[in-house]
Parts: sequence; C-alpha cells; structure tokens
Amino acid sequence: MRILLIATAVLVLAATSARGAETSADEVAQLRALLPSQSHVMTDVEYNFANLWFAGRARNWPLATFYLNESRSRVQWTVRLRPVRKLASGQDLPLQPLFDAFDHAGVDELRKAIQQKEAKAFRKAYQGALTQCHACHVAAEKPFLKPGIPSRPASPLISMRP
Ligand code: HEC
Repeated sequence: MRILLIATAVLVLAATSARGAETSADEVAQLRALLPSQSHVMTDVEYNFANLWFAGRARNWPLATFYLNESRSRVQWTVRLRPVRKLASGQDLPLQPLFDAFDHAGVDELRKAIQQKEAKAFRKAYQGALTQCHACHVAAEKPFLKPGIPSRPASPLISMRP
C-alpha cells in the first residue's frame, strides 16, 4: 500500500518535471496528502524493533544489524514527516533533539553490542533504547505508548536463526 502511494507520488512528480512546469501549490498539497502519518510509520518501527530483539536473542548479528538500521531510519522518517508537534498547551515540540537522544543513548549502544557480539550487552542496550522510545512518547503527550520487551517476533516469516 505504502509502496503504491510512494509510486503515485513519484509519478506525479515525474509528470510535473516532464512538463517543465513548476510544482503548483495544489500539486504540493496533493503530494502532502499522500504522505503516511507519523503513527503509521511508527507501526513500522514496532515491526522492525520487535524483530531486532529476536535476532539479537538468536545471536543472528547480521539480521540484528539489518533490523537496527531499519528501526533507526524509520524513526528518522517519522521526524522528517512531522518535525514539530503541537502540544495541548499550544507550545511546539521539536522532535529532532528527542531523535538524537534515542540515536545516541539507544541506537549507538545497540550497535556496539551487535558489533561485539555481546548478548548480555545487547539485552541491556535494548532495554535502554526502549526507555528512549518511551521518553519521546511522553514528551509528545502519549505516555500510554509504553513499549516493552516483545513476546514474539513481529514477522512470522523471517527466520531468526543464524
Ligand atoms: C522522536 C520521537 C519518537 C521516538 C524516538 C520514538 N517514537 Fe514512537 N511515536 C512517536 C510519536 C510522536 C507517536 C504518536 C504518533 C501519532 O499518533 O501521531 C509514536 C507512536 C508510536 C507507536 C503507536 C503507533 C500506532 O499508532 O499504533 C508505536 C508502536 C511506537 N511509537 C513505537 C516506538 C518504538 C518501538 C520506538 C523506539 C524503537 C519509538 N516508537 C521511538 C514518537 C517517537
């Protein structure tokens, strides 16, 4: 579905540049309407990050690296989609600093544990990253979105075994 939306957006863009015309405000609005929501992309993060846990548990380090990179780029995508959220008070909440905290305290530690093939450090780093996930949700006034260690891989299809 998302691939279809992105393909449509690319086609619209291609058609625009083929005409040599500048993108009109209407076309920009049309393209914006095709973008996925922040919450939609977050469900992708959930998928990738849940699989990451099981890849790490199985000591399948190449797969863990893959799911860590996917998780990071999806969180980054949600920030690009909506860099500033409006809080109930009317104040702005810029998401980039929260992404940076997640990246440095969460992703970097996970990457280190994966590179060193350290299962114990991996478990600790995963817990630490979850704390960063939740910190951003709290800041975005969604404290009830509290991620924890997943009970099963999100993918029924990909083998977690090395
Ligand atoms: C930089 C901020 C930020 C970080 C970091 C972040 N999230 Fe989120 N997440 C959000 C926001 C904002 C929403 C709510 C989006 C909305 O409803 O508009 C959300 C929503 C969610 C949802 C609910 C999606 C739905 O609608 O069903 C899940 C699941 C989720 N995040 C998982 C995670 C996980 C797992 C991590 C860490 C690996 C994480 N998030 C890290 C900002 C963040």
